[in-house]
Amino acid sequence: MDEKEKDSAMPIALTLEPGVYFRCTCGCSQSLPFCDGHHQQGQKLPLRFEVKEREKVYLCTCGQSRNLPHCDGSCGVDVPVAD
Ligand code: FES
Ligand code: FES
Repeated sequence: MDEKEKDSAMPIALTLEPGVYFRCTCGCSQSLPFCDGHHQQGQKLPLRFEVKEREKVYLCTCGQSRNLPHCDGSCGVDVPVAD
């Protein structure tokens, strides 16, 4: 990622209740950032993640994170490290 792309990347910050979530990776969902089942066969599949207690999460939008679907700071944004 070049510096210009880095500057435009920004995670989505959400406070989520405990539960299982599916992060849309295809862009077809009408409930972004979550999957609503609109992905087509052969498209990217959603990423499942679990929230164990109410917490603020930072979802990656740049695809560079090594901890998808969470932002790991690879975009240059300083996010709190998840436990
Ligand atoms: S609608 Fe995008 S991954 Fe399901
Ligand atoms: S938005 Fe992708 S690593 Fe931060």
